[in-house]
Amino acid sequence: MKLRFFSHSAFQLTTKSNKKILIDPFFDGNPTSPIKSNEVSADFIILTHGHGDHIGDALKIAKKDNSLFICVNELANYVASKGFKAHNMHIGGSYNFDFGRVKFTIAHHGSMTSDNYYAGEASGVLITCDGKTVYHTGDTGLFYDMKLIGEMNPIDYMLLPIGDNFTMGITDAVKAVELANPKIAIPMHYNTFPVINADPNDFKNKIEQLGKKSIVLSYGQEIEL
Ligand code: NI
Ligand code: MN
Repeated sequence: MKLRFFSHSAFQLTTKSNKKILIDPFFDGNPTSPIKSNEVSADFIILTHGHGDHIGDALKIAKKDNSLFICVNELANYVASKGFKAHNMHIGGSYNFDFGRVKFTIAHHGSMTSDNYYAGEASGVLITCDGKTVYHTGDTGLFYDMKLIGEMNPIDYMLLPIGDNFTMGITDAVKAVELANPKIAIPMHYNTFPVINADPNDFKNKIEQLGKKSIVLSYGQEIEL
């Protein structure tokens, strides 16, 4: 499968069977996004939580593409109440979709939509398809259970925030990689706004000092997993 990074926490997975899965698609209000929301398509949209920089343009894209939302129950009910298709899940649960398996994890963060609906618990998500497991942590602080998540679900690629202020900063993110033990760590949720400025190469160097691998993706870059 392929993984494309758009900046912030927005990624697209494209499977070998050409299914497109968007995660936290924040484009039009995102000053660092290399594209606008009408330039992507999605068969599935996974949201980690209800904040505006994660729901982003999801409703617009789903309207265009008739995408299926996959998220925790309360957030799934929110998008369903707006007329969209949703598959309700919750933390700890996994489900086999036609493209692969999705499992939700804890994240230590809030979750309310910009129009003030409670969107359930913030989450992280493990996506396994084409023989690889990607762990998108969502917005979160550091927590020790990342060790358990990595032990129970061996991780190939860990996508994790480094921007501090709302989430882990670099020091905590490096510890998160030590705990979850992915093959490759990819930083996200930095430099979108001044308050979350961080140097992804500083993160990468610290990961490499641990003898582990990190890739800093440029905005719009796509890699084969
Ligand atoms: Ni958030
Ligand atoms: Mn955020």
